[in-house]
Amino acid sequence: MELSGTEPVSPDQARFREVLGHFVSGVTVVTTMGQDGPHGFTCQAFAALSLSPALVVFAPARTSLTWPRIRSAGVFCVNVLKDDQEALGRVFATKGDAKFDGVGWGPSAKGCPILAGALAWVECELADVHDAGDHLLVIGRVLDLGAGEGHPLVFYRGGFYRGGFGAFPA
Ligand SMILES: Cc1cc2nc3c(=O)[nH]c(=O)nc-3n(C[C@H](O)[C@H](O)[C@H](O)COP(=O)(O)O)c2cc1C
Repeated sequence: MELSGTEPVSPDQARFREVLGHFVSGVTVVTTMGQDGPHGFTCQAFAALSLSPALVVFAPARTSLTWPRIRSAGVFCVNVLKDDQEALGRVFATKGDAKFDGVGWGPSAKGCPILAGALAWVECELADVHDAGDHLLVIGRVLDLGAGEGHPLVFYRGGFYRGGFGAFPA
């Protein structure tokens, strides 16, 4: 039987990133409130999962320092970034305790940061966690949510783009 193109492959990591980078996504910052203050990280691996019950999924790397805070808190908020929030996307993709310095936010009902100017936000309680290689698949049950006006910040082939202009680079 001809299996060309369907055999399991083990692409090197650079090739994996290059090819999968063609899948365009929005950019989120997943936040929570720890005993010591707010925490958050930039996360592209986010999706709606189920309508009834309302579930979402995101995938933190096992190395994420925000993830243990989310696990402890049991609640988190996914902030969908607007096209003028690239700087936030970059700051929350770093490590350290200074990510919230100078960042405007207000608390969700459960106390998780909703970033000022976010295009949309989804507050969740932790529902389930699955092993997923060097990441984890985290399922959240939606508690509350909201959206504003504007265009999304998008991520494509390793770069940030504004989502409102209807065209991406070839
Ligand atoms: C556009 C973009 C998307 C990202 N998506 C993810 C993701 O889906 N999962 C993840 O674990 N890290 C992702 N990262 C990397 C994390 O934001 C980065 O490792 C961060 O330093 C983690 O912070 P923490 O260790 O404080 O949680 C992404 C970074 C960028 C710039």
